[in-house]
Amino acid sequence: DIRGFIFDLDGVLTDTAEYHYQAWQKLADEEGIPFNRQANEALRGVSRRASLMLIIGDRTYSEAQIEEMMERKNRYYVELIQHITSQDLLPGAIALLNELRQAGIKIAIGSGSKNAKTVIERLGIADKVDAIVDGYSVQKPKPAPDLFLYAAHQLGLQPQQCVVVEDAKAGVEAAKAGGMWAIGLGPVERVGAADIVLPSLAGVTWAELRTKFPQTAK
Ligand code: G6P
Ligand code: MG
Repeated sequence: DIRGFIFDLDGVLTDTAEYHYQAWQKLADEEGIPFNRQANEALRGVSRRASLMLIIGDRTYSEAQIEEMMERKNRYYVELIQHITSQDLLPGAIALLNELRQAGIKIAIGSGSKNAKTVIERLGIADKVDAIVDGYSVQKPKPAPDLFLYAAHQLGLQPQQCVVVEDAKAGVEAAKAGGMWAIGLGPVERVGAADIVLPSLAGVTWAELRTKFPQTAK
């Protein structure tokens, strides 16, 4: 049976992917490193350090400079997320969370972000979930399965009883590596490795979704 849902946060429940982009863009501009929205696509769901590595490419910086740039980007990001409200929940998110809860499905948020708790509180959904697993919970970032395995464990469930909802390639990989079902949100080029691919959560219901999983999973 499917007994749990693990939602990624950034780009799934809310469009913080945009704020991450804006913060990286500001840093890149200050450093004179070419960067744009298109280049940012490769950063979706990628950890803070790995994102910076992709931005700097083969330019050399000391570890101290790298640390400072990660902190600076985070300051910009933290500033941007202060203005988040429940209005920033993506279409369909709250309806699905409510329906799942009513159906007795356990819910976790599994985000690699160290700012996840702030965002969740500002969105006003902390009381709708059973567990929050974030950038402080495990060592290895996605695509390693560790974060989602920890989330399943927090829910008291086996990986194969859990569905992960992700907008990032690295996140879908993490879910599949952990033995979970994956729903990918976005283009097939990005999340095509998921069991089910949808454009977004808009209009998505558990009643309909559950019929799409193989009989063995129901
Ligand atoms: C999520 C986001 C990434 C972000 C990462 C780390 O995976 O999708 O864009 O880089 O979290 O977030 P943090 O807030 O800790 O820098
Ligand atoms: Mg994401």
